[in-house]
Parts: sequence; C-alpha cells; structure tokens
Amino acid sequence: MSDERRKIIYSAMQPSGVPSLGNYLGALKNWKYLQDDYDCLFAVANMHALTVRQNPTELRKRTRDLIALFLAIGLDPEKHIIYVQSDVNAHAEIAWILSCFTYMGELNRMTQFKDKASKHSDNINAGLYTYPVLMAGDILLYQSDLVPVGADQKQHLEICRDIAGRFNSIYGNVFKIPDPYIPKVGARIMGLQNPERKMSKSESDNLNNVVYILDEPNVIANKIKRAVTDSDTEIRYGEDKPGISNLLNIYCAVTDKTPDEAVNDFKGCGYGEFKKSVGEAVVEHMRPIQESFKEYSSDKSYIDKVTKEGAQKASYLANKTLNKVKKKVGYPMN
Ligand code: TRP
Repeated sequence: MSDERRKIIYSAMQPSGVPSLGNYLGALKNWKYLQDDYDCLFAVANMHALTVRQNPTELRKRTRDLIALFLAIGLDPEKHIIYVQSDVNAHAEIAWILSCFTYMGELNRMTQFKDKASKHSDNINAGLYTYPVLMAGDILLYQSDLVPVGADQKQHLEICRDIAGRFNSIYGNVFKIPDPYIPKVGARIMGLQNPERKMSKSESDNLNNVVYILDEPNVIANKIKRAVTDSDTEIRYGEDKPGISNLLNIYCAVTDKTPDEAVNDFKGCGYGEFKKSVGEAVVEHMRPIQESFKEYSSDKSYIDKVTKEGAQKASYLANKTLNKVKKKVGYPMN
C-alpha cells in the first residue's frame, strides 16, 4: 500500500421525503462503490431542508430514516463518515463567513433558486437564496477533492469553486478546490408517467410516476405495470421510445446488465411480460435493502451511536478548516 492519501469525496442528500428509485439508482447506489477508493463523507443535509417549510416531527424522523437508509444500502460508518449536517456547528459558522465572499450577482444566476422561488412563491426566504453558500461550506470544510453531482447541482459546485478560489486568492491556500465526480456508470432514471422528465422524489403530482425505495413490492410492481409506453410493441432503445428506454435502463441498473443484454433478454416479449419482469427485477433488488432498512430504523440506539460518532469525526475535520478560516478573516482566536 502506498501512503499517498486517498482523495476525499463529499456526498449529501436532503431528508425531504423518501428517496425515489431515481435517487437511488442515480446517486445512492454509486455511493456504495466510492467507499473502496476514497475517504467518504455521507451527510444528511437537514439544514438545507429548512429552506422549505417542514413539519419538525417529520423532519426529525426523515433525518433519522435517511441515516438508516445509508446504512441499509451498505455505507460503512466505521471506515467513512456518516453524519447529520446540523450536528456539526461548523456548517452554520462557515456559511456566514462564505456569504460575505459571495456576490448577489452570482446567486441571482442560480437556476435552482429561480425555479424553487417560482414553485414556492409564498416562501421565498433568504435561506433559499443563500442555499449554495451553505452547500459550498459543506464541501469546503472537509477539503473535499471530489463531489458527485447530478446536472441539477452542477451550478452549485461551480459557485463553490468560485467562492473557494476567491477566498484563496485573498488569504492564501485555505481551501481545496473541489472537482465534480462523474460516475463511470450513472443511471438517469426518468418518471414512469412522464419519461421526458427526471424521476424525482418531490414530483408527486402523479403517484404512479415515482417509485420510492421503501414502496411495498406489490406497489413497485403495479407502478411499473402502469408505466407509459408507446404505440408500437417493440422493446428497444430509441429517442422515439422514452418510456421503454427508461424501463430498460431501470432493468440494467438493478441487474447490472448492459443495454444489449437487456434488449436481448426481452426479444419477442410483449409489453405486459416485459413490465412484469422489470417489476420483479426491481423488487428483488430492493428486497434486501428494505429488510435491512427495517432493522436499522427500528434500532434507535444504534442510529444514535452512528450519528454521534459521525458528528464527532466530522466536527474534528471541519473545525480544522474553520479555525484556519476564522484566523484568516480576523476573528480573535483566544
Ligand atoms: N443540495 C444537494 C441536493 O439537494 C444536497 C447537498 C447539500 C449537497 N450539501 C451538499 C450535495 C454538498 C453535494 C455536496 O441534492
């Protein structure tokens, strides 16, 4: 073994509802594999979740459940750091400092802010606006080398890099400038009813559009059975066949098969049989995760132990950076 330090990867997910199959196949499933090659931080971004109105009891439960889910998919709290963002004070502290190094012009350009502001026009709060600053702090506190980001978070990583570069150009080399991590295989899963758009946990106007990780097996099978297809009967990939292509992608992702193998598996099949098989493959893939989730989520003392230890490890690293930053900006450090 070389003693070269392993690169640090920072990943986080908001506890804003049960993750969807899209969140799982597009992000969470890949997190598991990162553990072999990197030092990982896996955070529940519950402070970000406050940017929309939350029921406190539910938010607390979802935060805990997301930790249980992290464990259920195989994230390892011994070798890596699994923690809840609000347990580490440094996040709130650095966010203020970084906000003084972020221009309103930059924040005004964030497409997610514009998008969310138009969706929640009754609650366009300052937190929603400075959300990218909080996120930059998450990443920079841990001197992260890499951040896995989907298309929707790319702009936030860009602004993080800009803020870090600006701070460094004034005060010297304080922050590592993070790069995006592009997974080797990343499944982009679309809605079952609307395969033109990403399957997202917050897209809840049509209940059959989204499969949730914790849906009962018969619910998963039924939602997939009702997925939109198209008028011909062929099972193949094609831009003219977004529904079928999406189901093929889901099948590949849960079976680890290649697109060619998937198409081959369903040669001569009708849509009914095809959807039934895809449903079964998803159910089988999710079954052990669901069982493991049930065990973890009912073991409160273990979850408490994991989050407490995670917070300690994260705080130690975060405070090293935060203290440096405080010194640089001129806080008295007695
Ligand atoms: N904003 C991210 C999302 O909604 C979650 C997040 C918070 C995050 N802090 C982060 C992602 C830091 C990557 C790095 O998906």
